[in-house]
Amino acid sequence: MTDHPATPDTEPIARLEAYLAEFIDQRPFPTNLTDAIRYAVLGPGKRLRPLLCIQSCRAVGGDEEQAFPPAAAIEMVHCFSLIHDDLPAMDDDDLRRGRPTLHVKAGEAMAILAGDALNSLAFELLAQRTNGCRLSEELAVATNDMIAGQVYDTIPDFDESVEPIERLRTIHRNKTGALIRCACRMGAIAGGADDDQLDAVTAYADAIGLMFQVVDDLLDVTQTTEQLGKTTGKDAEQGKLTFPGLIGVDASRRQVETLLRQAHEALDRLQIPVTQTASTPETSETSDGLRRLADYMAVRLR
Ligand code: IPE
Ligand code: IPE
Ligand code: MG
Ligand code: MG
Ligand code: MG
Repeated sequence: MTDHPATPDTEPIARLEAYLAEFIDQRPFPTNLTDAIRYAVLGPGKRLRPLLCIQSCRAVGGDEEQAFPPAAAIEMVHCFSLIHDDLPAMDDDDLRRGRPTLHVKAGEAMAILAGDALNSLAFELLAQRTNGCRLSEELAVATNDMIAGQVYDTIPDFDESVEPIERLRTIHRNKTGALIRCACRMGAIAGGADDDQLDAVTAYADAIGLMFQVVDDLLDVTQTTEQLGKTTGKDAEQGKLTFPGLIGVDASRRQVETLLRQAHEALDRLQIPVTQTASTPETSETSDGLRRLADYMAVRLR
């Protein structure tokens, strides 16, 4: 990667992946289940949620090691959501992260069960850690919101009076926004955030959470399957409610710019308490990781 301002700090990814692999390998699972989980989790994902978790921890003055348990937990829930999202009963996708989806590779029963296991593994990982109860509650609520979002997206039963744009915002806030918000909040909580810091991180997360899915919708219509590593053009084919589908590509891009600006404004409000400043860099520097991640998420091409 070049040293462009929109290049995120990917340095923690290798350590995070090793941490995930070690945790998964320690479970007393049948080998074929371990193989399926490893395949789904350790494939070439962007690790955005773990990076957001780690950078949110840093942004409030915490030590990034404190963010590893929630960062690993959120990635496991995310991977569970992807496995199930791709199932024939859901989006029916054959390609994910440039490779066959888990149900294509290992069969539908294994894909369902590996997803189930990843959901509980995430909570098992958090249970023994500092702040385990608080982090588990954050993750449980967000996982439920994600599942509700998948229902709104796949089998909606909105009241007829709810306008399409409101439906779309409800779908996106839940199906994607919830886990992104949770990644940031858990990182901030692990880093010892005070209430004002947590509010600022949450405002940042709400903006980039929606922005992420507007970009995901845009990429589905603007990229090729090869570039994206997942089958494009699916949203229109399956009649999904999306930002480009509803307001067009140009207005969707403007929406991305507006949300990115909101994310930056939220970070401007982030302050490190005086007691922490002696041992930690200036506010602008500690939240620089979140700034760069947001910039990257706005312009990413996969
Ligand atoms: C894809 O998420 C699924 C959505 C929520 C739209 P990512 O684009 O973060 O997927 P990976 O983890 O990098 O594969
Ligand atoms: C997936 O949304 C959201 C979750 C997995 C919770 P999409 O269906 O838009 O994701 P992709 O485009 O298949 O990655
Ligand atoms: Mg879907
Ligand atoms: Mg999908
Ligand atoms: Mg999509």
